[in-house]
Amino acid sequence: MMQTIIGTDITRAAALLREDELVAIPTETVYGLAGNALHETAVVKIYEAKNRPRFNPLILHLADALQIERYALLDAIGSKLAGAFMPGPFTLLLPKKSNVPDLVTAGSDKVAIRVPDHALTRSLLALLDFPLAAPSANPFGYVSPTTAEHVMQGLGGKIPYILNGGSSQVGVESSIAEVQEDTILLHRMGGVSAEMLTAATGLPVIIHNSSHAPSTPGQLKSHYATGTPLYKGNLTELIQKFAGKKIAIISFKDVYTVPDARVFTLSPSGNLGEAAQKLFATMRNIDQMNVELILAEDFPDTGIGRAINDRLNRAQAIFK
Ligand code: TXA
Ligand code: MG
Repeated sequence: MMQTIIGTDITRAAALLREDELVAIPTETVYGLAGNALHETAVVKIYEAKNRPRFNPLILHLADALQIERYALLDAIGSKLAGAFMPGPFTLLLPKKSNVPDLVTAGSDKVAIRVPDHALTRSLLALLDFPLAAPSANPFGYVSPTTAEHVMQGLGGKIPYILNGGSSQVGVESSIAEVQEDTILLHRMGGVSAEMLTAATGLPVIIHNSSHAPSTPGQLKSHYATGTPLYKGNLTELIQKFAGKKIAIISFKDVYTVPDARVFTLSPSGNLGEAAQKLFATMRNIDQMNVELILAEDFPDTGIGRAINDRLNRAQAIFK
């Protein structure tokens, strides 16, 4: 076990990364577990610390979208998307150049690239002359972290430093998109919605996140899972069905009053962005409580609400 320190010292974080050590970094989506993407020694440590299978590739994080072409081929539509959504909660899947190690892309000829929109992490990236490979900073399969303390709970003792940048503002992982002929494939739903992608390019979006034959291997079904079994659907029906159990409830804006239940209403004012921001912290919080089941509502299937539904659907899949 090594000692894990939480702090805000980007000079120290940069020094560790230059020595192929890992540092957890804050981003606007979720915290990432970062290492030098160009050094296999560092990338191997990422897979090991997370207990992540090596067939599941990592996203390359850059300081600026202008650096994309150092590592990947970018066409006109890709440039347009990068211009519109980077920095931001958005990842582009692109044909990779040979300087990106196969270990990062799990042998694929495509690389996923993102420019996080978080001041501390952008300052850190600006100090480095290499990109950072970073998956979400949670043990494989568990709910992604949105605070430094969440990272400590999952990876404390396994990494030397956690850069503390407060609570992640978006709260769910980046959207992952790929341009294919005259369409955009959306491999993972996140902070940039299908509607936004179409508005920026005029192209139709195909939602492409089948968990059976995932083309982004991280989209396996039993992901984002709490330890406590989670059921999602019509809350009134679920509450009836599980009467007598110790339950926690995750709802969007309506407050449910159920005797003895722990009730978490993510946005009483009906703001999906606020609900997304609180989702993972709420799931983790409930997991620490002594309840038998989590019952979650179906969220409005629009904008970032789709990302919320996606994560909750995957969180329950493991128990079916
Ligand atoms: O918001 C985010 O994207 C966060 C923060 C830390 O940047 N990162 C994140 O990484 O969510 P991770 O590793 O938990 O999820 C990355 C997803 C996985 O589903 C992975 O399979 C997919 O991106 N991916 C990465 N590289 C890929 C590639 N070359 N081809 C296909 N899918 C890829
Ligand atoms: Mg992840």
